[in-house]
Amino acid sequence: MRQRVLLPGCHGRLGQHLLRLLLPDCEVLGLDRQPESFVAHSNFRYQQIQGVSRTALRVPFRDFQPDAVINAAAYTAVDKAEEEREACWQANVDLVRSLVELCRPRGIWLGHVSTDYVFDGADGPYEEDARPAPLNVYGQSKLAGENLVRGAELPAAIVRTIVVYGKGHALAPDFFTWLEGELRAGREVGIVTDQWGNCIWAMELARVLARAMERRASGLYHAGCPDLMSRHEMALAFAGELGLDGDLVRPVATAQLGQAAERPLRSGLDCERTCRELGLSLLGFRESIRAWSADRPELWSIN
Ligand SMILES: NC(=O)c1ccc[n+]([C@@H]2O[C@H](COP(=O)([O-])OP(=O)(O)OC[C@H]3O[C@@H](n4cnc5c(N)ncnc54)[C@H](OP(=O)(O)O)[C@@H]3O)[C@@H](O)[C@H]2O)c1
Repeated sequence: MRQRVLLPGCHGRLGQHLLRLLLPDCEVLGLDRQPESFVAHSNFRYQQIQGVSRTALRVPFRDFQPDAVINAAAYTAVDKAEEEREACWQANVDLVRSLVELCRPRGIWLGHVSTDYVFDGADGPYEEDARPAPLNVYGQSKLAGENLVRGAELPAAIVRTIVVYGKGHALAPDFFTWLEGELRAGREVGIVTDQWGNCIWAMELARVLARAMERRASGLYHAGCPDLMSRHEMALAFAGELGLDGDLVRPVATAQLGQAAERPLRSGLDCERTCRELGLSLLGFRESIRAWSADRPELWSIN
């Protein structure tokens, strides 16, 4: 029997990569905010989300009867969240509460996605049991969402991830798409030297979630690539890998950017437990960039 997977946020960056990974073998009901889906596949159905309440979400649970839910929906505009606290809370907390309440009585496994922004960035890379201390509204909302999942008695995995990149249909350019465009145009870019992390290709993150679902894993898992770097080092390594001019990558400090939301600086997610418990090895930065670069999502035939 094919697994029946409910996928809120199916049109987002992670959602699209999950679709590519899951659709050959699973029946997926995707939920998102657009009236229609661009995805056409015999294993795929789509419903527009009509709000984040339990009542709004009851219909897909009743009609589709999922075996598992992977929540790829989120409010992800970190700076805007400082002004749009309510919209951020709706997606990152209220929607999660509804999913938890609908999964729990039915014993449905929930895969939930969170972020390194639950940490303050004082002393990363972080293991799963490190103490969260978010610095901004987005991080606070994601921690509140985590706490709802952890506090509920249900089979659930929370996968925290960090700087996700990946190509897809009608997505805003990710960090590397933007960087490639600037460097190819011969423009200088200022990239921060004081933010560290281990960014991950969205297909790798999708692989972690799919494996967690397959094993009905529960608890907290971290998902990032094995290579911890500053953003500036990432940009230089990226330029080197694609044969672009690294001299255009100028070092700047986060404080110079004047961003509305404070960032965790020394971040990074230790993924040893994830690899060990889920029996996975994750692609390194350079291999991931090569795979990302070769990826041609416009040629996907999801059909
Ligand atoms: N991207 C990163 O660098 C990063 C880093 C760490 C953690 N994460 C986490 O990874 C997960 C996936 O992120 P992503 O990069 O795939 O984000 P994304 O591309 O912004 O996708 C999020 C999806 O959720 C939808 N959504 C937003 N608000 C909603 C609401 N109120 N009700 C229903 N759907 C809603 C969005 O629709 P619209 O397009 O209409 O808004 C979009 O399709 C999230 O949990 C995020 O917090 C991401």
